[in-house]
Amino acid sequence: MTDHQFSENLLNVRMSPIVSISEEVRKLAPEYKSKTGKDFVLFQRGEIDFPTPQYIVDAAKNALDKGITKYPKSGGEDVFKEAILYKLNYFNHTTGVDKNNIVCTYGGQESLELSFKLFQGKKGVGFAPCWSCVLENFVPYCGTDFHQIPLSEDFSIDYDLLDKALKGASFFYLNTPQNPTGKLFTKKEVTAIVDLCAKHGAFVISDEAYEAVVFDEEKHFSPASLEYENIISTFTLSKTFSMTGWRLGYLVTRNKQIPNLLKLGNYTQTAGVTTFLQYAAAEALNNKDESQKTINAMVAEYQKRRDIFYDGLISIDGLSVTKPKGGFYFFPDFHNFIPKNVSGDERKLYIYKHLLNEGVASVYGSCFGNYFDDYVRFSFSTTPVESILDGLDRIKKICI
Ligand SMILES: Cc1ncc(COP(=O)(O)O)c(C=O)c1O
Repeated sequence: MTDHQFSENLLNVRMSPIVSISEEVRKLAPEYKSKTGKDFVLFQRGEIDFPTPQYIVDAAKNALDKGITKYPKSGGEDVFKEAILYKLNYFNHTTGVDKNNIVCTYGGQESLELSFKLFQGKKGVGFAPCWSCVLENFVPYCGTDFHQIPLSEDFSIDYDLLDKALKGASFFYLNTPQNPTGKLFTKKEVTAIVDLCAKHGAFVISDEAYEAVVFDEEKHFSPASLEYENIISTFTLSKTFSMTGWRLGYLVTRNKQIPNLLKLGNYTQTAGVTTFLQYAAAEALNNKDESQKTINAMVAEYQKRRDIFYDGLISIDGLSVTKPKGGFYFFPDFHNFIPKNVSGDERKLYIYKHLLNEGVASVYGSCFGNYFDDYVRFSFSTTPVESILDGLDRIKKICI
């Protein structure tokens, strides 16, 4: 049996590098421990170390006890969709949409996959750095002709580049707050991007997975609050409510045709999201007070970790680092610590490997697009303060 009998798109999909990095760490950890007596510091994953709030767990249990175990309604249960409309109003300041504008999905991931599939084989544009899953999974799976527009060193936007790239594009992928940079796109930036997309007749796929993880009293600005019809906004409960394993998400668009098409995609793939889980999702979004408390506590902890991490990184002479405004990642530039004569694949892995030798797991920058080989992503979503401090000591050792 040879590969050419199978879908070329699927053969081009890559498993997340984060999985292979975690496997590598698992292999190295025992030897590291026996040598140093210490554990690895794990900065590689976007997992969350808070439990799912009990009131959400109880809502799932109640739904099960009530026998809500039958096939879900196509595109999503009314109870979930009504809660989404409520949340879109109080959190995203989005009005003028109704249940027909929504499709409920298995996490943000399915919302994004359906959206990319909508433009199968067509030209798409997005900023680099870019979430690795877009590049490794959605783009090859959907045969997208994906053009990466580099953000500047300070992660600002070159609008001329963007304008040129959008010519002939079907869609632009925007992720705010952004993985891996932690950039929170301002209202002005989001509006300018959407205006440029409108000028070129391009759709916007807006990935708002980290909408609730925002620091310094700043606010996430949701493109869904703009009037432009051709925006597909994708949301997830994973990060907001520490529900990564529940696989609950949804998408919203003012475009009339898209929900019907994506409902067909959703039905074809899975026939909809597990019915009783949708009742838990509804509780998470409806219980505004409890949810706000949960989010505040979580964000306060992340902000503490971010500040300690930032103070440590910024104290390293020659390391270039931007303070994240949202999400839970740092994306520093290590180019001053890589010898000039190191190039190609060796360069891509240089810092990552040196960090592994010191017992630190990270994700190498090339996973996030074409322009950031000298960068490394550190996640602080599962690392308590002591681990961050320990990790910083070890990072400092390779910065000489
Ligand atoms: C930028 C971004 N978008 C979307 C997602 C999707 O999350 P989920 O499928 O768990 O909802 C993730 C998860 O890590 C992410 O980092």
